[in-house]
Amino acid sequence: MEATPRRSSPEMTEWISPSAFPDLPLNAVHIWRASLEIDRESQEKYARVLSDEERARAERFVHERDRISYIASHGFLRELLARYLECRPNTIEFTAGPHGKPAVSQVRSPFALGFNLSHAHGVGVAAVVRGREIGVDVEKIRPDFAGEEIAQRYFSEAEIAELKQLPHEQRATAFFLCWTRKEAYVKALGEGLRFPLDRFSVSLTPGGPIQLRADDAGRWGIRAFEVPTTSGMTHVGAVVCEGDDWTIQHLDWGGFENGQPKRSPQTL
Ligand SMILES: CC(C)(COP(=O)(O)OP(=O)(O)OC[C@H]1O[C@@H](n2cnc3c(N)ncnc32)[C@H](O)[C@@H]1OP(=O)(O)O)[C@@H](O)C(=O)NCCC(=O)NCCS
Repeated sequence: MEATPRRSSPEMTEWISPSAFPDLPLNAVHIWRASLEIDRESQEKYARVLSDEERARAERFVHERDRISYIASHGFLRELLARYLECRPNTIEFTAGPHGKPAVSQVRSPFALGFNLSHAHGVGVAAVVRGREIGVDVEKIRPDFAGEEIAQRYFSEAEIAELKQLPHEQRATAFFLCWTRKEAYVKALGEGLRFPLDRFSVSLTPGGPIQLRADDAGRWGIRAFEVPTTSGMTHVGAVVCEGDDWTIQHLDWGGFENGQPKRSPQTL
């Protein structure tokens, strides 16, 4: 099995509020974060840019919080992609891969805009790149969910062994480092959770090197990040993208929400 180069974990992710919308060079990955806890005015604004199908899907959520989160994440995604594509957000059309991975329908080009979206407990993250497959995942660290039973069910033997040798207090974080890295990989592949999760391994020790071990690991690069929120360092994430020659920029959407950039706080 191949392995990606061992990359050291970032000390702490620094999210930047750019003063102007940044260019996206061919060897860059942009990761944008947005709060999905939005007020009524933003809900109405975002709902207006959704397609009829998206609006209908939003209406089907039973819980109000889930409906708002859906509108916020899809509105954010459309507004964001429209900036790269230089078009109106409501005119973007999406296609879906064989297992549901969304892509922008556009003229085939080696530099076509690629993206992937993830949302979890009030936080939305979108990864954007040119001409490469990409997958991103963000999760809230939830110690109640990070049980041994779930690890046994979804993790590889190597991952379970790495998890078990960690001190107890690091295990919940390690569990979600593992989970987000695995999901980012299966989302980059476009397979989602139908891909056998024990057929590849990721590293998971907090502060340790970040690595993917898979049959096609040579095709990919992997990075990890954290999303601070007002309640602390609550969310972790990972991105897997084709090649390993790319650099990553962590960007705050907050300033662009209302049309113009402004300085925004370090937390969501
Ligand atoms: C894709 C998948 C891994 C998402 O995991 P998750 O942690 O629940 O959700 P995330 O917030 O990280 O990502 C969701 C987003 O990923 C994207 N996505 C959907 N399918 C995807 C796929 N196969 N590959 C990559 N990205 C996908 C979408 O933008 C989706 O956003 P939306 O649900 O608001 O439309 C998981 O739902 C899955 O495996 N799906 C496989 C397809 C499937 O079983 N479909 C059943 C209905 S046909």
